[in-house]
Amino acid sequence: MTYEVRPLRPEDSKLAWDLGSLAFGYHEQPVPDGWDPSSRGRHTLGAFDPAGRMVAKAVDREQGQWFGGRIVPTCGVAGVATAPELRGRGLGRLVLTRLLQGARERGAVISTLFDTTPLPYRALGWEEVGALTYWTLSTRVLGAIRPDPTITLRPATEADLPAVQELYRQVARAGTGMMERSGPAFDATPAQLLADYHGFTVALDDAGTIAGYASWDRGPGYDASGKLTVDDLIGLTPEATRTLLAMLGGWASVAPTAVLRLGATDPAWSLIARVDAKPATAQPWMVRVVDAPGAVAARGWPRHLTGEVDLDLVDDVCPWQQGRWRLVLSGGEGRLEAGGAGTVRLTPRGLAAWYAGAATPEQLRRAGFLTGGDADTDDLLRAATAGPPPTLHDYF
Ligand SMILES: CC(C)(COP(=O)(O)OP(=O)(O)OC[C@H]1O[C@@H](n2cnc3c(N)ncnc32)[C@H](O)[C@@H]1OP(=O)(O)O)[C@@H](O)C(=O)NCCC(=O)NCCS
Repeated sequence: MTYEVRPLRPEDSKLAWDLGSLAFGYHEQPVPDGWDPSSRGRHTLGAFDPAGRMVAKAVDREQGQWFGGRIVPTCGVAGVATAPELRGRGLGRLVLTRLLQGARERGAVISTLFDTTPLPYRALGWEEVGALTYWTLSTRVLGAIRPDPTITLRPATEADLPAVQELYRQVARAGTGMMERSGPAFDATPAQLLADYHGFTVALDDAGTIAGYASWDRGPGYDASGKLTVDDLIGLTPEATRTLLAMLGGWASVAPTAVLRLGATDPAWSLIARVDAKPATAQPWMVRVVDAPGAVAARGWPRHLTGEVDLDLVDDVCPWQQGRWRLVLSGGEGRLEAGGAGTVRLTPRGLAAWYAGAATPEQLRRAGFLTGGDADTDDLLRAATAGPPPTLHDYF
């Protein structure tokens, strides 16, 4: 059968809602008034059978993620679904392959997604690089942390939010893969952001500067079921981090469980014993390189690293980037020049994991994602993307 793959039109909204809501289990809900699967910053593709039935779909979200201190234009893939009766027959591949083409044409250089299963995405060149993790621990454990006398806590006001966002950005810029919380996917007003939480607390230092914040929800009840869920807890100073954690500890009598979203190397871990925290939920996420020369040019590279490696990229899903490229790094900038000897061969999953700093050349070689090269090329490639482990705090 021949399927037509095209961007959705306004009249396709109901079909998109029906396919997506059934796949993700919110089919009891009616289509919200004015719902538009292709609202600003969202590019939805559908596959249609000759009778006009939508049989598969996927969304490309415009977003940016921080790598090496720069925002990399990203295609955030969401809402991927194939009609139940037609799964396993190539429709997911068809739609996602076209989605990648479109994403490249609109300027995205990498793609990220949260996978419910890695298998179809691995078949198309994405690789898992991290997991968004909420940790659960007894709130009592945090009660042992004392607030710092130089820090004042108070509820955030709308006027605080630009400073709060800048504080988040400072941490994101120094991280790997963190979301840039601006652009079409982040258009909530300060009032909406504050209304999203039961508590949004800022920590001020003795100069009155915001040095940390926490956004949190207090679940119902005050018995054993009482729970505090913390989305962001970000301290720029040890005093701010300590004081925010101590505030959470103050909930121990009525919310005995605390659930915190924390990256694996967050400084909050310096105050929490790892043995006290268990993963509550872990949502893996994946990366794929969509436009290799663009992706290399877009991210930041170590300023003190200079060198070249000849790569051979194997990629039949994104054939425009297949072939030989010379990676040239100098002064914090990187570029891919067409040509070279193709010394180090990378599969799409290998390229993704290396670009994201999720795996060393040695690990990639052992996984079968990298062949060729020698100790020198390994050294350069390892140093090039070494950094904090890939971390993403925003589910999409
Ligand atoms: C995930 C989903 C979209 C895949 O769509 P699909 O049309 O079945 O996928 P395809 O038939 O095009 O398969 C694409 C590739 O993934 C592989 N694949 C897909 N589902 C797989 C599975 N369950 N196990 C192993 N491999 C799988 C296929 O073998 C194929 O690889 P190949 O082309 O190299 O042979 C579909 O199963 C679905 O709608 N699932 C429910 C909703 C969902 O989980 N969405 C994903 C959200 S992240």
